[in-house]
Amino acid sequence: MSESRFDRTADRYVEAAQKKDWTAFIELCRPQPDDRALDVAAGPALLSAQLVPLVARAVALEPSRPLLEHAPEGVEPVLGEAEQMPFQDSSFELVTIVNSLHHVADMGAALAEMVRVATPGGRIVVQDYLADEDPQRAEVWERVERLRDPDHRRLPRPGEVNELLGEHGFGEDEAQTWTASWSLDDWLEMAEPPYAAAAEIRRLVASDRFELTAWRARFTAR
Ligand SMILES: C[S@@+](CC[C@H](N)C(=O)[O-])C[C@H]1O[C@@H](n2cnc3c(N)ncnc32)[C@H](O)[C@@H]1O
Repeated sequence: MSESRFDRTADRYVEAAQKKDWTAFIELCRPQPDDRALDVAAGPALLSAQLVPLVARAVALEPSRPLLEHAPEGVEPVLGEAEQMPFQDSSFELVTIVNSLHHVADMGAALAEMVRVATPGGRIVVQDYLADEDPQRAEVWERVERLRDPDHRRLPRPGEVNELLGEHGFGEDEAQTWTASWSLDDWLEMAEPPYAAAAEIRRLVASDRFELTAWRARFTAR
């Protein structure tokens, strides 16, 4: 695997990620004491750390070794990619992915893998930012994202995850949508893009702050 921006900026990313409040996401997961929980694209495994006292096992799958080295005690860290997971079929009652589908090369393959490793009756919980409904605005935003981080692939379109999981017989039980507001400086600082890229981003965004639609949902087999 070549070095990603998460490898290069791991310490800075972890510092920012530690400020996240996982309460609402964990409530949506409905963790059970017997659950084997897998967080895909786990970064420094901070969600898994929160799940440790609530479930039987908390496994964190992540391709960036420098990030995974931050996994707190109690979490089972596993190096690997979402599109080809090193787990047997039906291994986890709870499978999650947070703010990472937009990084995987093949969103459909990653979701198919999440279905494969989930037990029958298992829960899949997804959170991410969504592409703008307007295709032109969505295209400009994708340009901004890739200038900031060339490893960014694309944000899911509204309804796209439901369609992809629907192909595997999974349906949405509960969903939440909200507006996330960002300081452009903070957002740029986390990824440290080259000066020229940051300047172009500032020109395209043309504001100190920006907003994205964020979404999370829990799915089970129908
Ligand atoms: C924005 S971070 C989110 C990390 C964590 N889920 C969180 O919310 O703190 C995106 C993560 O996706 C990981 N990632 C990128 N490509 C991936 C892939 N193909 N499979 C699994 N994870 C991937 C990155 O290494 C990074 O840790």
